[in-house]
Amino acid sequence: MARPFEAIRLTERVYWVGAVDWSLRDFHGYSTNRGTTYNAYLVLADRVALIDTVKAPFRDELLTRISSVIDPADIAVIVSNHSEMDHSGSLLDVVDRVKPDEVVASTMGVEALRSHFGGDLAVRPVKDGDVLDLGDASLSFIETRMLHWPDSMFSYLPLEELLFSQDAFGMHLASREMFADMLDAEILQQEASKYYANILLPYSSIVTELLARVRELGLAIRTVAPDHGPIWRRDISTVLGWYERWAGQAPTTKVVVVYDTMWGSTAALARAAAEGVELGGGHPRVLPARATHRSDVATEILDAGGLLVGSPTINNGIFPSLADVLSYLRGLKPKNLVGAAFGSYGWSGEAVGQVEAYLREMGVELVGTGVKVRYVPVDDDLNRCRELGRLTAEKLVGRA
Ligand code: FEO
Repeated sequence: MARPFEAIRLTERVYWVGAVDWSLRDFHGYSTNRGTTYNAYLVLADRVALIDTVKAPFRDELLTRISSVIDPADIAVIVSNHSEMDHSGSLLDVVDRVKPDEVVASTMGVEALRSHFGGDLAVRPVKDGDVLDLGDASLSFIETRMLHWPDSMFSYLPLEELLFSQDAFGMHLASREMFADMLDAEILQQEASKYYANILLPYSSIVTELLARVRELGLAIRTVAPDHGPIWRRDISTVLGWYERWAGQAPTTKVVVVYDTMWGSTAALARAAAEGVELGGGHPRVLPARATHRSDVATEILDAGGLLVGSPTINNGIFPSLADVLSYLRGLKPKNLVGAAFGSYGWSGEAVGQVEAYLREMGVELVGTGVKVRYVPVDDDLNRCRELGRLTAEKLVGRA
């Protein structure tokens, strides 16, 4: 294993020179319980290239790792595949230290970097299909607009059949083992799915198109090097297959029941709804919203077919934890869900209608009218909730 802050050799030509952020626990609202890495790569060629940089506080870690291989001043070109600050936050400082011949980015990347850094940074735009000559090697560019920002692009090193895929195929997972095949397969799938659900889900149709395009281009890929988490040098088809499946969002018989409760009534309704799901042949996953991070709810939704949401009414509205989850999920635009709303109330009872409005906006097919219960559910109320669960599951079983 490399010493701390030493580069890690990935292939004949390419070194990992990024940074490990062991302590990150929140990535703009997404819980990152295993930390993350900000991957940057050095490509050794007649003209040395640096692919992406790191988040600003990790600048020295990046420069130290580069220095373990070459003098940073030998870098001729910096490629910005993605302008989000976790990959370009240290760019100005690195340019100042390295003084490369040029910095290149997609057309939208140039605009984004200019917006971040003002006129202090000269960046040359490159287009889809452009080839950057590095002397005894080359890099070609594939624009991946909206995966997940307008500027996003891949860089491809044909000489080593290596794809620098920026955020795509990445995950938030801090580790000194830099290859996916050195890590636990279950953790990899868990973190990759969490990343997909929270970052890429809204752009699933673009993911499907991109995978088709990569196949069409006949791009030989031996290694996938993303901007977060481990590098894939074996079983590339595993991660590509996951993306194919997640982007398709084919409905399953899993039903997420997410709820919160004030005095236990909506919790009782949630249990009844989950029982109904089982009676209908589905698989319930019950999540108490106050104890489940919004990004974990999103991850559970990724391979679910149903969504049942239970909220008490508080101050004429949705319970705060559910408002948070629903607003977040709506932005992630999950597809192909069926579901319903339920909840208890004391005197006004607006929450169920408001939850249904969220579900409609998300395109969730409602299986029935939401169940509203005054104060404490009686058997009939619990049965109505069981029925919602059963109907949801039966619809999914019929489709599976
Ligand atoms: Fe890892 Fe979109 O930044």
